[in-house]
Amino acid sequence: MVEMLGVLGGGQLGNYFVLAAKIMGYQTAVLDPDPNAPAGLNADLHIVAPFDDLDALRKLASLCIAVTTEFENPPVSSLEFLAQHVTVRPSPAAVAIAQNRREEKQFCQSVGLLVAPYDVLETEEDAERIRRDGILNTHLNPFRTPLIMKTSRNGYDGKGQRHIHDFSEISKQWAAFGKVPCIVEQKIVLDAEFSVILARSNSGEIAVFTPTHNVHVDGILDLSFVPSSINSQLLEQGKSSAVIIAEELEYVGVLAVEFFVSENTLFVNELAPRPHNSGHWTLDAARTSQFEQQVRALIGESLGNPSMTSSAVAMVNLLGDRWFNGEPHFNLLRGDASTHVHLYGKKEPRPGRKMGHLTTTGDDANAVALRAQSLRDAITP
Ligand SMILES: Nc1ncnc2c1ncn2[C@@H]1O[C@H](COP(=O)(O)OP(=O)(O)O)[C@@H](O)[C@H]1O
Ligand SMILES: [Mg+2]
Repeated sequence: MVEMLGVLGGGQLGNYFVLAAKIMGYQTAVLDPDPNAPAGLNADLHIVAPFDDLDALRKLASLCIAVTTEFENPPVSSLEFLAQHVTVRPSPAAVAIAQNRREEKQFCQSVGLLVAPYDVLETEEDAERIRRDGILNTHLNPFRTPLIMKTSRNGYDGKGQRHIHDFSEISKQWAAFGKVPCIVEQKIVLDAEFSVILARSNSGEIAVFTPTHNVHVDGILDLSFVPSSINSQLLEQGKSSAVIIAEELEYVGVLAVEFFVSENTLFVNELAPRPHNSGHWTLDAARTSQFEQQVRALIGESLGNPSMTSSAVAMVNLLGDRWFNGEPHFNLLRGDASTHVHLYGKKEPRPGRKMGHLTTTGDDANAVALRAQSLRDAITP
């Protein structure tokens, strides 16, 4: 009998999980309230229900041998409920940390890793303390403006963030967020950003992908390329930091860790308890993709070889903005065997919405990064 694997969330990451599971001989079930969710198109079963619907969760648990998640924000109570009936990887406890910026930062600090200077903003007293210490510029104040206020939960692609130029704005800006729990972080000078994606199996085996150099525009990932030109010591430090995080969390699954490089110092930005946009190149240029690793870790198999199949690869995202004057001219890419276009099957091309991505491989990271961007421009109407 063909066994079934489950995933919470039906976005493009869920869809690639479904496709990877399919070619490994599994059926899949997706839980997502959106009837048009991309993963629903390829899954054997799409349960259209809210993530906290107990009947839906019961159904998922009864049909599947194991369940994972494709986004960081499923209710932890849902994961805990599932875990009473079926294997859930990564653990609800690990997802709980990754879905809350405060806990994520406190966890990283507790295992000896640096994060950008920040303060917690959850109460009126917090707001007053940050404002007063900032304005008085006391030694208690760990940071200086500009700051970025980030909601502790549910932020993605730069959403749930506000830039603060003066400490006197803290209360007003926090009120504009409805006074939900936030963190306030120093805006640091970013020399570069990179991410480390790894998989860890339930036996403790770890496979780390080559670190990916990332460029964000307006808080959204725009370009990723490998290998990165960042100082190799910092990249190695990123890899060992990601391994520390995975081991300390007793993590099972695919974990992505985003890093900032500022003045030769490494800061952990955030964790994603799932495959990551910056790892999409592994679909076209690694012996094992991040999604195959996700399936392997979920079912308790040994991990695949994460090494690259080409010397260099670059990926650019295709946001809905590129559809503004009509559908991109994908036909222009036909015949280019080193370039792949991935479309997620989303019907509505809204600005900032990830509609797909384009990957191109070659010999040199700088050259492929430039080529990916110019190909994207060339197909944009
Ligand atoms: N403290 C900071 N200093 C400078 N740039 C930042 C800072 N925080 C975020 N950014 C920029 O915004 C991007 C998105 O922020 P991030 O905290 O990763 O949120 P998201 O969950 O939306 O990815 C980062 O990749 C980086 O380019
Ligand atoms: Mg991020």
